[in-house]
Amino acid sequence: MTKVTIIGAGEVGGSCACALADRDFINELVILDVKDGIAQGKALDMNQSAALKRFDTKLIGVTDDYEATKGSDVIVITSGIARKPGMERSDLVATNARIVFNVSEKAAAVSPDAVIICVSNPLDVLCYSALKATGFPPERVLGMSGLLDIARYKYAISEMLQVSTKDIQALILGGHGKTMVPMPRYTTIGGIPIRMLLSEEKIQEAIHRTQLGGEELIDCLGRSAWYAAGAAICEMVEAVVCDQKRVFPACAYLDGEYGYNDIYLGVPIILGRNGVERIIELELDPDDKKRFEISQEEVRKNLELMKNLLNFN
Ligand code: 2OP
Repeated sequence: MTKVTIIGAGEVGGSCACALADRDFINELVILDVKDGIAQGKALDMNQSAALKRFDTKLIGVTDDYEATKGSDVIVITSGIARKPGMERSDLVATNARIVFNVSEKAAAVSPDAVIICVSNPLDVLCYSALKATGFPPERVLGMSGLLDIARYKYAISEMLQVSTKDIQALILGGHGKTMVPMPRYTTIGGIPIRMLLSEEKIQEAIHRTQLGGEELIDCLGRSAWYAAGAAICEMVEAVVCDQKRVFPACAYLDGEYGYNDIYLGVPIILGRNGVERIIELELDPDDKKRFEISQEEVRKNLELMKNLLNFN
């Protein structure tokens, strides 16, 4: 039996649950929230859609009941406050670091073999909080951001070229923030390098739109978004549960890879049943290296802040 838990029944957790149920590869999908009724209501609503959407996944909504999450294969953490207009992801550090620590610790205690996928912001830093809270090996604690950022990058390119997003392959490195590093050198459209199809100016425009992807949505919605995030998490959960060995960017713990230590950053990985099965190290050209370093510095700053707040030193 496959069992997945989503902690946090807000918009991201709900959208993720909906995408997972639709794919129909999980037997039991538990949604847990601290607020009474929300997880139960969303689970019931989705269970009632099963006959229409034709899935067999059984959704269970619970209020802060970690016992119900026992034996999960994957735990998705979406808890925390969302970003509002004018806020940076880093403004959430103090509040969300404690929340993520707390929920990860409780969830890991009853699912000691799970893979944890953290989604709360600031993502790279909060993965570290989850790692410390669970005591799991780093390959079983990772974060979702690269897949979302890359989906936004592909969408921007598809709009410019009027091509299907399905035929775009791309890569992104670094933290989930404005300094994230989309990689034109590793971007192809139907196998054709992007630089053969788009001018440098247009490529920079797509990169810029990607880096500010979260902000563009907050301007529209008044808070951070959820549909693409939910779909991206779903892709990662499926890769783990079905041991797919998918290759895509994710937020992984670096222990010397790319020259960095004791930090979570977005890098290409192979994702399977054991979590991060391998981090793929690429030779970076000087410009990409510099952009990656700037992104690392930004994440490191918030990481130090969080380590002091939570006494991790
Ligand atoms: C985003 O980029 C919420 O950080 C997330 O939309």
